[in-house]
Amino acid sequence: MVTGSINTVITGSTRGIGLGLAREYLRRGHSVMISGRNQQTCDQAVTLLQAELATNRVFAQVCDVTDIGSVEALWDSASATFGRIDHWINNAGRNNPKAQLDKIDWPEIESTIDTNLLGVIRGSVVAYRGMLRQGSGWIFNMEGFGAEGMIGLEQVPYGVTKYGVRYVTKALVKTAAGSPVCIGYLSPGMVTTEMAVPQADRRDEFFFKNRKVLNILADHVETVTPWLVERMLVARKNGTAIRWMGFARAAGRFMLSLVYKRHVIEEAMSRQDNQPTLETSNDV
Ligand SMILES: NC(=O)c1ccc[n+]([C@@H]2O[C@H](COP(=O)([O-])OP(=O)(O)OC[C@H]3O[C@@H](n4cnc5c(N)ncnc54)[C@H](OP(=O)(O)O)[C@@H]3O)[C@@H](O)[C@H]2O)c1
Repeated sequence: MVTGSINTVITGSTRGIGLGLAREYLRRGHSVMISGRNQQTCDQAVTLLQAELATNRVFAQVCDVTDIGSVEALWDSASATFGRIDHWINNAGRNNPKAQLDKIDWPEIESTIDTNLLGVIRGSVVAYRGMLRQGSGWIFNMEGFGAEGMIGLEQVPYGVTKYGVRYVTKALVKTAAGSPVCIGYLSPGMVTTEMAVPQADRRDEFFFKNRKVLNILADHVETVTPWLVERMLVARKNGTAIRWMGFARAAGRFMLSLVYKRHVIEEAMSRQDNQPTLETSNDV
């Protein structure tokens, strides 16, 4: 049973899963520091959540996880706002353009590794040091395709980063043993954010090729994020793994697909096509 407000920092929470996690913490009476690379998208997220939930517990700080100074500034700002940071979620991420490794432009490879892997390391180190100083706290690292070692020839940079995130998180669990800080693994399965269902002008062959499997396995943000947050709030043991799409659920979905056709991808495309986006992208 959780008592008192949990003060949470979520990297990359201006949209998608990060924004969904923020909404679920706020719905349960907790406080959240939103972050992303630019002021405009941070402000939009805060305004949206304030309007939806009539809350005064949501704040924002610009943070680019590819810059250690920016990550430190996020810690300092959240620490000054909340007094104490209970949960820090390394969620910010990007995907590489879907192509074999030799066909991907170098800046895309570098940016994916810098954001997803070095970004998680920066966030983890900054939060771990800060939490040791304050004497408590949880760090959760967001996994994804590749964490289990599965090879996707058109997702090598992304897969490498998530394989690395699993490694770093395992190491941090050992590092944190006996300390007042706990480390957790987070895995959302496939979620119908822009990362999995790109905007209309970015839907490529890879997306259409994988649409059938996505319809079987993917879920909307509002399905997955309450489940993840409920479990983060009650996590007690260092090394806790919170993974939405385990083997049993995935197997169940494939069985179900023999008799029932899900349409989550068409739903997500229609939501996107009917919703003008104000977001600006800093991606390379
Ligand atoms: N969607 C899926 O199916 C899926 C599956 C497994 C794992 N995941 C993981 O879940 C996490 C969130 O993914 P998502 O699907 O929600 O993606 P998304 O909708 O594209 O959102 C990505 C978020 O990360 C932020 N971001 C990107 N680069 C950043 C940087 N350098 N510094 C700080 N923030 C940055 C973006 O904010 P700004 O653009 O405002 O900076 C945005 O808020 C990622 O780690 C992803 O790998 C996703």
